[in-house]
Amino acid sequence: MLVVDNLSVRYFGSKDNAISNISLTFQQGEFICILGKSGAGKSTFIRSLNGLQTPTSGDIFWEGKQISNQKEEELRKIRREMGMIFQHFNLIPRLSVLQNVLTGLAGYRSSVKNMFGIFTAEEKKAAEQVIAEVGLKDYIHQRVEHLSGGQKQRVGIARALLQRPKVLLGDEPVSSLDPGISNRIFTLIKELHERHQLLTIINVHDVELAKRFATRIISFSNGNVIFDGSPEQFNEKIFHITYQ
Ligand SMILES: Nc1ncnc2c1ncn2[C@@H]1O[C@H](COP(=O)(O)OP(=O)(O)OP(=O)(O)O)[C@@H](O)[C@H]1O
Ligand SMILES: [Mg+2]
Repeated sequence: MLVVDNLSVRYFGSKDNAISNISLTFQQGEFICILGKSGAGKSTFIRSLNGLQTPTSGDIFWEGKQISNQKEEELRKIRREMGMIFQHFNLIPRLSVLQNVLTGLAGYRSSVKNMFGIFTAEEKKAAEQVIAEVGLKDYIHQRVEHLSGGQKQRVGIARALLQRPKVLLGDEPVSSLDPGISNRIFTLIKELHERHQLLTIINVHDVELAKRFATRIISFSNGNVIFDGSPEQFNEKIFHITYQ
């Protein structure tokens, strides 16, 4: 269970909160899509969940542990339980699919091992398995820079999956992709979500995608939650309030 308790974030030098007094509870198995227009606070919120963004006030608890108050070592353990995928993939273009995916193990390894890129046969086997899961078996030794956008995001998903996460976070992971590809990527995410019994929380641009895949939709406006309900409840009126 992931609990957000009265969370506010204000950026340095800004006079307004980016998000204000957010309280939400997420259960394992939920597939949550977050909607809201540009500047609503979606990225700030999602980045707060795994401690990439420090709260100005309020707390986040993952399985009872307060995220904001942890020592480095404990925070590393918590972070590896939370895989993240990004709009611009955040891959290393010159490296192969396999090498990129293996960076997902960073949270499990010493910094020396990470620096020298030394991986055991077992680690490589686990990486091969997640690469197959995302449908990139034939591309394993290709440099990432030669892949299409959809394939790059599959690499991003495989990297997150190699962490063996319990939570999958996404900050607009399909906003750089064509609608058809976006749908296929969401289909893959949903499959993995079910197979690995994840809690999935994704910011999305496309309301139709959210309605098709989410079990719960949350919409943000001006840093506040203005809707939290089922896809069916997200109606025309809520749509207009969200995007007005
Ligand atoms: N690093 C930053 N420094 C100062 N202000 C920021 C910073 N990042 C975001 N903001 C501000 O915080 C508010 C929320 O931004 P955020 O990026 O979380 O919104 P978003 O919903 O993700 O928008 P988008 O759809 O454009 O990605 C906005 O007013 C934004 O200008
Ligand atoms: Mg954003």
